[in-house]
Amino acid sequence: MIKCSPRLVLILFLLPGPAAPSIFSQTETELVRINTPYVQTPQEVVSAMLELAHVTSEDTVYDLGCGDGRIAIAAARDYGAHAVGIDINPDRVRESMENASKAGVTGLVEFVQKDFFDADLSHATVVAFYLLPEVNRELLPKLLRVLKPGTRIVSHAFDFGGWKPEQAVVVSGCKVFLWTVPANTTDILAHHPKER
Ligand SMILES: C[S@@+](CC[C@H](N)C(=O)[O-])C[C@H]1O[C@@H](n2cnc3c(N)ncnc32)[C@H](O)[C@@H]1O
Repeated sequence: MIKCSPRLVLILFLLPGPAAPSIFSQTETELVRINTPYVQTPQEVVSAMLELAHVTSEDTVYDLGCGDGRIAIAAARDYGAHAVGIDINPDRVRESMENASKAGVTGLVEFVQKDFFDADLSHATVVAFYLLPEVNRELLPKLLRVLKPGTRIVSHAFDFGGWKPEQAVVVSGCKVFLWTVPANTTDILAHHPKER
């Protein structure tokens, strides 16, 4: 069984991201947005994320930076939810589609090759991700602008910095955080850097 460990978190910080070869032509903002490397969430942590968010068959789960599609696929396979996985890396999207096919959930899941900063997330009722802390912080204003009140957000490993989670659990040494988008986001955004 894979356990979360300081080493895994260290790898997440040190590995070059999928877009590393082109970093010299990119702005600092673009770099923050795409530099999360590919590290998998252990399956038991995926299950804990979906349980913490109380995913049901009524949900549409968006898996931001979906990797091999494990969060979206588990949401469909284990809860009957609709799910959308988004990854910037076409190899990850291909792998996710193959995995969805093997899991028999192609009717419930969709995978899109895109920068999640440019994606329409407005249909999500649950948003899940495993990204670097600075990417979480960059993402928060967009999430609060486009997500409906009541949408649950679950993150593996890192929080948003300022906005305190309503629940935080540790599973196999991995942290998992839960938030619910409130009707009024003014206070949260007032203490957070503006959307770029
Ligand atoms: C730490 S991995 C997590 C993979 C998977 N969600 C999991 O938990 O096993 C982060 C993923 O985010 C993707 N990624 C990084 N920046 C992205 C962006 N701006 N838009 C879409 N995908 C991105 C990477 O290609 C990588 O697959």
